[in-house]
Amino acid sequence: MRVYLDNAATTPIAPEVVEAMLPILKDGFGNPSSTHFYGRQTKALIETSRRNIAKLLNCQASEIVFTSGGTEADNMALFTSVQKLGVKRIITSAIEHHAVGHTAEAISHLGLASVAYVQVDSKGNVDLTHLEQLLQTDEKTLVSLMHANNEIATLLSLENVAQLCKKYGAYFHSDTVQTMGHYSFDLQKIEVDFITCAAHKFHGPKGIGFLYVNKKNKIDALIHGGAQERGLRGGTENVYGIIGLAKAMELAYDDVEGHQQQVQQLKTYMIEQLLQQFDDIAFHGETEPNKSLYTVLNVSFPRTEKAGLLLFTLDLKGVAVSGGSACSSGATKGSHVLEGIQADTTRPNVRFSFSRYTTKEEIDFALEQVKMVFEKTLA
Ligand SMILES: Cc1ncc(COP(=O)(O)O)c(C=O)c1O
Repeated sequence: MRVYLDNAATTPIAPEVVEAMLPILKDGFGNPSSTHFYGRQTKALIETSRRNIAKLLNCQASEIVFTSGGTEADNMALFTSVQKLGVKRIITSAIEHHAVGHTAEAISHLGLASVAYVQVDSKGNVDLTHLEQLLQTDEKTLVSLMHANNEIATLLSLENVAQLCKKYGAYFHSDTVQTMGHYSFDLQKIEVDFITCAAHKFHGPKGIGFLYVNKKNKIDALIHGGAQERGLRGGTENVYGIIGLAKAMELAYDDVEGHQQQVQQLKTYMIEQLLQQFDDIAFHGETEPNKSLYTVLNVSFPRTEKAGLLLFTLDLKGVAVSGGSACSSGATKGSHVLEGIQADTTRPNVRFSFSRYTTKEEIDFALEQVKMVFEKTLA
């Protein structure tokens, strides 16, 4: 048996998404910028997809700009804020995805804006009092804080941060890459300026996503070139990806609450089983259902001298998961997220992440393998 519990990294594509993309892959080759039949055909498919996505988020189609995924959408939000909206200061946190963290650093190194870091607690919750203090400035500010942390699952209240941003006249960008397709968004109710999406996090294709840009913001392109995406993103559109993205969104929102309940049950079950299996176990980030992304569980296992073998052995046993740290050329580089919450990184940690395709049998198999690995290989 082989189980895939690394759905926060990416998800398997849904069969219905493949079905939706196939006819276009085969025959829909026209360049959407061409004015002849072939071009008009693919252009119409793109615009229908955009409208369908906008309907699901209760926003206008013109507020959706297709990008190559989450990273580009995050880059676009940050760069356009400083280059077009006059932002001179970015407030973010130390536990953002690198798509935001490294982009903010790049902007700061280029001298385009300064960056301030809001404090987070040991579970990754943003300190809203500190955020309010940081917002008390005359400089035009962008707040960029992720909706759910991809490593430790902690959720942010978009409403609370949006209210603060409104009070102090700051722009608000949220990296919603891990929550898009997993929670409902009513963009008439949540006052955000930018949110981001990557289709491959909810059973869509890789290399496609979008940036939602609130219509009150007149922004500029990040990728300059042709007049595609109303001049906001040059380059021939990823037609197949866009069709796949729209289908993945439709499937995700067809029964989003049902998926949430089903996956949350598996996560709760896994927490309970781990607490029974191990005397000394802890979890990074929030785990309570209303404070924690239901697809992610970050486990802090008991200390062992052979911790370095954990992920490798689990993989050999057929359990695909990821850790909070990435190894490169023999040197272990710690997770900036675990560092940012001052977690005990001397204990081995594993991020298990689930999808609506994950079954209880798979969780049981993973739990059994984890137990064996700790009892035999790592003992
Ligand atoms: C929170 C978050 N933001 C951004 C990204 C980047 O998205 P993409 O892989 O589509 O560029 C990811 C993907 O790992 C993510 O988890």
